[in-house]
Amino acid sequence: MGLLGIFKELVLSAVKLTIIATSVAAQAKPDCQSKCGNINIPYPFGTGSPGCNISRSFFIHCNTTFNPPKAFLTTSNIEVLNISLDGYLRIVDSIGYDCYNSSGRSSYFDTWITLSKFLISHAKNKFTAIGCDTYAYFQVKLTIVATSVAAQAKPGCHNNCGNISIPYPFGTGSPGCNISSSFFIRCDTTFNPPKAFLTTSNIEVLNISLDGYLRIVASIGYDCYNSSGRSSYFDMWITLSKFPISHTRNKFTAIGCDTYAYVQGSLGHNYSTGCLTFCNEITDVINGSCSGIGCCQTGIPKGVRSYHVTFYSSFNHSYVLGFNPCNYGFVVEDGAYSFFVSDLYTKNFTDREFPIILDWTIGNQTCTEAKMDPENYACKENSYCIDPENGPGYLCKCLDGFQGNPYLSHGCQDINECDTLKPCDGTCNNVPGSYSCSCPEGFEGDGWKNGTGCSPKVIPHRQSFPFLVVALGVSLLSSLLCSSWVYLGLRQRKLTKLKQKNFQQNGGILLREQLSKLEECSETGKIFTADELRKATNNYHETRILGKGGQGTVYKGILPDGRRVAIKKSSIGDQSQVQQFINEVIVLSQINHRNVVKLLGCCLETPVPLLVYEYARNGTLFNHLHNAALASVMSWETRLKIAIETAEALSYLHSAASPPIIHRDVKLTNILLDETYNAKVSDFGASRLVPTDKTQITTLVQGTLGYLDPEYLHTSQLTEKSDVYSFGVVLIELLTGLQALSFERPEKERNLSMYFVSAIKEGLLLEILDRRVVNEKNIEQLKEVATLARRCVRVKGEERPTMKEVASELEGLLAMEKQLWGKGDLHEEEAEPLLDDPYKNSIRYDGSTSFSMGPDSIKNQVSFEVDGAR
Ligand SMILES: *[C@@H]1O[C@H](CO)[C@@H](O)[C@H](O)[C@H]1NC(C)=O
Ligand SMILES: *[C@@H]1O[C@H](CO)[C@@H](O)[C@H](O)[C@H]1NC(C)=O
Ligand SMILES: *[C@@H]1O[C@H](CO)[C@@H](O)[C@H](O)[C@H]1NC(C)=O
Ligand SMILES: *[C@@H]1O[C@H](CO)[C@@H](O)[C@H](O)[C@H]1NC(C)=O
Ligand SMILES: *[C@@H]1O[C@H](CO)[C@@H](O)[C@H](O)[C@H]1NC(C)=O
Ligand SMILES: *[C@@H]1O[C@H](CO)[C@@H](O)[C@H](O)[C@H]1NC(C)=O
Ligand SMILES: *[C@@H]1O[C@H](CO)[C@@H](O)[C@H](O)[C@H]1NC(C)=O
Ligand SMILES: *[C@@H]1O[C@H](CO)[C@@H](O)[C@H](O)[C@H]1NC(C)=O
Ligand SMILES: *[C@@H]1O[C@H](CO)[C@@H](O)[C@H](O)[C@H]1NC(C)=O
Ligand SMILES: *[C@@H]1O[C@H](CO)[C@@H](O)[C@H](O)[C@H]1NC(C)=O
Ligand SMILES: *[C@@H]1O[C@H](CO)[C@@H](O)[C@H](O)[C@H]1NC(C)=O
Repeated sequence: MGLLGIFKELVLSAVKLTIIATSVAAQAKPDCQSKCGNINIPYPFGTGSPGCNISRSFFIHCNTTFNPPKAFLTTSNIEVLNISLDGYLRIVDSIGYDCYNSSGRSSYFDTWITLSKFLISHAKNKFTAIGCDTYAYFQVKLTIVATSVAAQAKPGCHNNCGNISIPYPFGTGSPGCNISSSFFIRCDTTFNPPKAFLTTSNIEVLNISLDGYLRIVASIGYDCYNSSGRSSYFDMWITLSKFPISHTRNKFTAIGCDTYAYVQGSLGHNYSTGCLTFCNEITDVINGSCSGIGCCQTGIPKGVRSYHVTFYSSFNHSYVLGFNPCNYGFVVEDGAYSFFVSDLYTKNFTDREFPIILDWTIGNQTCTEAKMDPENYACKENSYCIDPENGPGYLCKCLDGFQGNPYLSHGCQDINECDTLKPCDGTCNNVPGSYSCSCPEGFEGDGWKNGTGCSPKVIPHRQSFPFLVVALGVSLLSSLLCSSWVYLGLRQRKLTKLKQKNFQQNGGILLREQLSKLEECSETGKIFTADELRKATNNYHETRILGKGGQGTVYKGILPDGRRVAIKKSSIGDQSQVQQFINEVIVLSQINHRNVVKLLGCCLETPVPLLVYEYARNGTLFNHLHNAALASVMSWETRLKIAIETAEALSYLHSAASPPIIHRDVKLTNILLDETYNAKVSDFGASRLVPTDKTQITTLVQGTLGYLDPEYLHTSQLTEKSDVYSFGVVLIELLTGLQALSFERPEKERNLSMYFVSAIKEGLLLEILDRRVVNEKNIEQLKEVATLARRCVRVKGEERPTMKEVASELEGLLAMEKQLWGKGDLHEEEAEPLLDDPYKNSIRYDGSTSFSMGPDSIKNQVSFEVDGAR
């Protein structure tokens, strides 16, 4: 970052400074040096350690070899005298910039003011003071000054002549200041203000633009008569050495009522063009109309470098002398002259001068030719070459995202679009030539104002995370592998007999088998140290919390290699969490599927074990579907894709995984979404590994209200079809946009699957579908999915399709998307008794959405033969 950049940032930050100033006293950051000599260094400025300053540009270098010590801005030799949080910064200009007082300004200052221009409009800020030590300090109110382009001269050259700025390749004064002799500007200071002339001619320059044109002044040609004939005559002529008259930006204009006017010259061959204008009565003439009555205009040829104005009158104005004694002719910048009737008779119109635009180019080569001669090639860094239309030679332009003078080394400076355009809702990242937007930690969206912006990520609503708490000493475990830790957990569990029995019934035998493959965790994942994870989560900072439940917290972690991970940390809980934790490790270590969240490793050093997972950037499906704060509605295509991927993952768990796995807690909050909205099924704490010779196992009923398979609830027999039921509820949520269980809905609509089934029975499916996604094109597809969802939530498990069937039907629907759909009849034909809402009578709703049924339902369990499981 050059000085320019630094100042740019300082100026910009000044806006923020004023805001900070109201809340913060002028002091340094804690643990930072607050003074350099007797100069206060308030944050965001800072000296000493890197953390003391808010960014590089706010670094103050304190040189203690001086007495008293002196403060310097960043690594420059600009001495800082005073820093005020009101937005003022006083420096000593000790590096030889031209410093002017209020009646003049230096090249540096010009640029700086240009940079600040947008500040004026955007922030209405009157920040600014930069002084020079040889002069009194002064302050400039930026609202007064506004220059257009950062039009700098070559370093060491005069930047202006009077108030005309002279950007390189033009130059005045010493010979090195202009790129070639055609670009020399003579500044005549005998005028007040001084006047600029092109090379050695007497052609006055008004304005120089880096876009390839300059504005000069020229007088007009005239031809006047009195009653005795021609009284005065001036055949205006001009000859330019190099720069042609712009044929696009100028017009030849003639005024008179008995007038033929010509502009003539040489273009290698002679050329002549002109126009005629007549009028009989002054009343025929109209102000502003230059179309042949009193005034006429015509274009001029391309490449004209000299011209000469001549006139002819048919009647020597004898019929119009009263109101028009003269012919006038002149070349003028298009739009710079507007015709007034009075111009026909005003005595002193002959003294008028008009601006003319000349086109300028560098050299007489094309871009291609010029590039072959790098030594003389005029376009510097971050610029490109263009071949203009008018005449030979080329021009340079700054690349997109840069501004400044392309003819100067480092003349093209990055535009800080973040401040000029303010394109972002979130964090704006300006990089040379470009910029991008992102959202800060804890927010989601694309960050663009014209895009989805940033909205706060809502902490998942009472999500529960099963965890294990081990009552073992902290230090004991540090070097153990996951599985051995699990083993210890297992031994711990043996202390309670009932639970041990349960545990074994629920897969303990398999766990034991796992223990023989001790390497499990280290094979698939990594053992993290407590330190690593503390750093990754910024000491479990609350801003890193992704989700929080009764049993624990999930943090977002950033590993030293930049990888993002999710870290599950349990709060101290009970033995049931031990079981769930073991489950999760075992289950996840069996699975490798792209739609199942990956366990990356674990940490054993802490009293509370930590599990490290892949990070799903977009959070839970629940948030995306049910969070009103997320302004954008999830499209049906995305919903279908997520449904298919979830179905595939479950199908894989049921049929491809060995041993098969029943998830047992399929719900929206357990479906995570990565950055491209790929579904990741998570939370395997409640999952069951199914012994290969069993198709159903008896367990403590576990699940989530609203998703729980009623058959399982009644029989305690867990089968794969319980997941199918829960998945059916997920499908219904995707279709309707309603929550699985809502106590805000009327009582008979509380349970979504029952509400959905009865809506279908009454032929009211269309009423319940999510209006935000239904359209003509997808209605048939939605109906098909509704039919499938209906089958998934049948009361009898055996009537439900398998996950494999569900997945392939959904995929089929996607593939057939464009085909014509048969009319799906969603009316229920067979009579199926709707079960009473099972939650109404048997279960206490404790405010959480997860629950386990009490042990009284265990008495009916068919004993599960632990040892005969394999
Ligand atoms: C503070 O300034 C120093 C020196 O320029 C720099 O290395 C450091 O990164 C800056 N600190 C911050 C937080 O940007
Ligand atoms: C402090 O300033 C002196 C005199 O200009 C210079 O010689 C010295 O290198 C500076 N010290 C540091 C640490 O920059
Ligand atoms: C810096 O400016 C503040 C506010 O104008 C003033 O109170 C203070 O005395 C100044 N300090 C120095 C060292 O000039
Ligand atoms: C600016 O400086 C010039 C030359 O040093 C001096 O003549 C003029 O009076 C100064 N103007 C102001 C406003 O200080
Ligand atoms: C330049 O100075 C002249 C004379 O003082 C003034 O009329 C004109 O507006 C000035 N132009 C600019 C751009 O300041
Ligand atoms: C700048 O213009 C002057 C006057 O025409 C000329 O003497 C000098 O050579 C020019 N400089 C360059 C670098 O061509
Ligand atoms: C120079 O031209 C630019 C662009 O046309 C205009 O904004 C500026 O005011 C002009 N300056 C003078 C001194 O005429
Ligand atoms: C017409 O103009 C000429 C030249 O300026 C002058 O000599 C003559 O007296 C004028 N005639 C009348 C009638 O004004
Ligand atoms: C031209 O005449 C107009 C009014 O007739 C007057 O305002 C203006 O100053 C005159 N200009 C010159 C250069 O004599
Ligand atoms: C181009 O310019 C160079 C140097 O100014 C000159 O020697 C050469 O004759 C020019 N070529 C043409 C085709 O005008
Ligand atoms: C938003 O604006 C930027 C810059 O104009 C553009 O690149 C981007 O494509 C726009 N995004 C949308 C979603 O319109």
